[in-house]
Amino acid sequence: MTLLIANWKMAPEKVEQAEKLAKETLSLAKKYKKNIEFVICPSFIHLGTVVKQVKITLALGAQGVSAVTTAANTGLVSAAQLKGLGVQYAIVGHSESRARGDTNEVVVEQTARLIEKKIIPIVCIGEKTRDAQGWYLSEIKDQLHGLLTTVSKTNFKNIVIAYEPIWAIGANAEREATPLECREMVIYIRKLISDVHGEKFAATVKIIYGGSVNEHNAKYFITDGTANGLLVGRVSLEPKRYELLAKSLSL
Ligand code: PGA
Repeated sequence: MTLLIANWKMAPEKVEQAEKLAKETLSLAKKYKKNIEFVICPSFIHLGTVVKQVKITLALGAQGVSAVTTAANTGLVSAAQLKGLGVQYAIVGHSESRARGDTNEVVVEQTARLIEKKIIPIVCIGEKTRDAQGWYLSEIKDQLHGLLTTVSKTNFKNIVIAYEPIWAIGANAEREATPLECREMVIYIRKLISDVHGEKFAATVKIIYGGSVNEHNAKYFITDGTANGLLVGRVSLEPKRYELLAKSLSL
């Protein structure tokens, strides 16, 4: 089963557009339910709209969560509130939220809050740039360190790790990553998990790929890149392309 997660970021602007997009995604989810598990992560403002389309074939995810539980926190959304609404997944550690100040420590706390409420954390990790010496690997190691030392094996089982190289994300991406680059990182991430929790366990952790995924390259990140799923930004907002993407994964 391939996990296909739509990260809508700050789009769309209107509630009706979000409703339409959610309905279109739901029809894809029904069509491809044999091979693909669909998740939509809208911004907080659209969670209430999208939750109405959530069925057994389509899950709802949030794009963040507060690291703290105290109710007196203007502007934040707690894991308890997300749970209350029916949210099943939440993205933490996205490079865009890290750029706004979420440190590795904050991401560990956010992950803990989600685990407490039985929401599946989608923890994003990824290097800013690549260098020929492989120093970028230590960035990945640092991003995983806190999780590996604080989350129990039982809880780690439910975490989804999203490898998203920053240089390959969004409209300003340097270039697309290759399936081989994805594969090497999946191996490296599994090795880091295996060093703490053992090889057998590491093999079961879901590691997905994100960054300029489209209808042409999606399949190869799964087949050659060995990712267990995809986190899709821009293309998840374009129904026709998203359908082609889903179709390519089912062939
Ligand atoms: P993109 O975004 O597919 O538009 O590159 C992916 C992401 O940031 O999760």
